[in-house]
Amino acid sequence: MKSRTVIITGANSGIGKAAAIRFASEGHTVIMACRDSERSRLAFKEVRQTSGSENVFPEFVDMGSFGSIRSFCSSFKKTYGSLDILIHNAAYVSHGAPYQLSQDGIEITFATNTAGPFLMTMILKELLAGSDDPRILHAGSNIIKHFFNPKKELDFSDLQGEAGKNRNHSVYITYRNSKMALLMLTRRMAGEFKESGIKVNYLQINGATMSKETLNKMKPNWRAIARIQNLFFRPPEFTANCYYEICTSEAFRNVTGQAINHRLEIMQPAAEKPGLLMDIRQSLGAGYIPFYARRDEVIAKVWDKCMELTEMALTEQAEPEPDVP
Ligand SMILES: NC(=O)c1ccc[n+]([C@@H]2O[C@H](COP(=O)([O-])OP(=O)(O)OC[C@H]3O[C@@H](n4cnc5c(N)ncnc54)[C@H](OP(=O)(O)O)[C@@H]3O)[C@@H](O)[C@H]2O)c1
Repeated sequence: MKSRTVIITGANSGIGKAAAIRFASEGHTVIMACRDSERSRLAFKEVRQTSGSENVFPEFVDMGSFGSIRSFCSSFKKTYGSLDILIHNAAYVSHGAPYQLSQDGIEITFATNTAGPFLMTMILKELLAGSDDPRILHAGSNIIKHFFNPKKELDFSDLQGEAGKNRNHSVYITYRNSKMALLMLTRRMAGEFKESGIKVNYLQINGATMSKETLNKMKPNWRAIARIQNLFFRPPEFTANCYYEICTSEAFRNVTGQAINHRLEIMQPAAEKPGLLMDIRQSLGAGYIPFYARRDEVIAKVWDKCMELTEMALTEQAEPEPDVP
């Protein structure tokens, strides 16, 4: 297989690190796009050592900061000059944490999991378009199953701190919403990028063993739940293999705009009014995405919101850098 250049965000841990090892072991050039930390430096060494590849490079980025994403992208363009695969794996999920705004004044979960990846994709799309087989993958979650309940919907009313002190904040809900928004962007981007040949898909992840560091970031009661979940979850390498197949195999070469499950099947949109038995089947299985995910007016709202939030960052990025005298 032809060697590809791959960016994996959040590659210092869990599924992202396992994916970095997998891509590097198969001879691809891997850019580990991680936050600047000791953990990232150790992970970088580990990925090089385990894969036996020299073509692994650490590049620092904070996916919750537009400034950091912009400087990552401009340095990436100068240093590497081409890109074939972009994997948006990094995610913020700090259960029990208070409401927090990013440096850009956006709720931190949405900023990191949805608006940040959107911005990075929009800046790098021209570079991707130069590849003979460009692919983008969004790391999703089965938490979007909540949207099988027709009462659940995305709520943008407190994305920029509007609710002040009167909010009832839950990271669980903001995380759930950020992943549904990412699924909706997947569909819209597939349409927007069709001409340039860039394929965009979403992998629904049902669970992967969480590392000690990830568990340590959680509040004690959430940590206890996660420890129990870990007993049933598959190792990160299982999901890393799904990343690999979706981003490199012939089977997915022409697949775009889809949600894909852990069995590498394309998920079908659920019926709007399924009836009881079908409703149970849709909600419990991994074959369907909620009907809500295909609502065009909500998809347009998510797209417009991301455009609005990133407009300034995108305009500044497009401006030529001033000549240094
Ligand atoms: N594990 C599961 O059960 C499960 C289930 C469903 C979906 N998923 C999805 O799978 C993906 C990988 O998760 P995982 O299980 O491998 O968890 P993980 O080990 O905690 O990995 C998450 C990664 O995201 C990075 N990250 C967080 N905020 C960031 C930021 N602002 N900028 C850059 N990187 C940032 C973390 O880096 P730091 O070290 O800097 O924090 C970490 O490397 C995520 O998208 C997650 O939502 C996981």
